Amino acid sequence: MLSASEIRQKFLEFFRKEGHAIVPSSSLIPSDPSGLLTTARMQQFKKYYTGEADPMADFGSKSTVSVQKCLRTSDIDEVGDDTHLTFFEMLGNFSFGGYGKEKAIGYAHTFITEELGLPISFVTFYQGGPGVPRDDESEKYWKALGVSDVREAGADVFWGPTGISGPCGPTTEIYCKNASGEDVEIWNIVFNEYFCDSSREKLDRGEAKLSKLPFLGIDTGMGLERLAMVVQNKSTIFKTDVFDFILKSFPDSLTFRTQRILADHMRAVCFLVSDGVIPSNKGTGYILRRLL
Ligand code: SER
Repeated sequence: MLSASEIRQKFLEFFRKEGHAIVPSSSLIPSDPSGLLTTARMQQFKKYYTGEADPMADFGSKSTVSVQKCLRTSDIDEVGDDTHLTFFEMLGNFSFGGYGKEKAIGYAHTFITEELGLPISFVTFYQGGPGVPRDDESEKYWKALGVSDVREAGADVFWGPTGISGPCGPTTEIYCKNASGEDVEIWNIVFNEYFCDSSREKLDRGEAKLSKLPFLGIDTGMGLERLAMVVQNKSTIFKTDVFDFILKSFPDSLTFRTQRILADHMRAVCFLVSDGVIPSNKGTGYILRRLL
């Protein structure tokens, strides 16, 4: 059984062999000022998707791979169930005008089914929306790879932008079963084809404008903890080796839900502090204070 640490290495090595430059995780405090926290790796890659920066000059390749520290407060009320966290690690491969949809889907399929030997439960693709056509290509590529359950989906499979503007586009998601037989979304493969001039909220209200980016970008994200749950055949992320040893240190008098929340928030607090945040009454410091 692979440990979470072995999964990280396998992911980085798989994409390194395919010509991706390995880049270290960036800080939980984004360099991009449009958000308080790093919620996705692509946030700090925005300038490579828009063509403002040259990936060849900075990485020696048009494609990169990373294991990124992320913190999302949007799911905080769900922390304590089997799959949600505030702090998590995201495995991702990225391309800035290098390869396209067929290769991105092919890599994901090979990594999940051959490298990890996992069956895919089903995949999704975008049904289309205002100004964005149905993603017939993704449907075609998955079917050509022999995946039989390929489902059309709505706004959930259109990703981004993060912050007040940025790259965004249709996605295709991969679902696998955990030990309880539940389908869990493990990998989100985003095709950054558009630039949105406003936030996601405004886009959903029909108040934002989408324009085509100069080239297609690939932005994928797979939660390490969820993947470990599937690989290690557990019913919850809290039974993987990422969390097991933390939960064992809590007294039995605490409910499972409390133990899980404590474990999640402790990790989030440690990583925020290690990135230089101190508790305060505003911004990221306030998030840290509330987590504490
Ligand atoms: N940006 C996408 C996400 O965060 C894929 O990396 O899910």
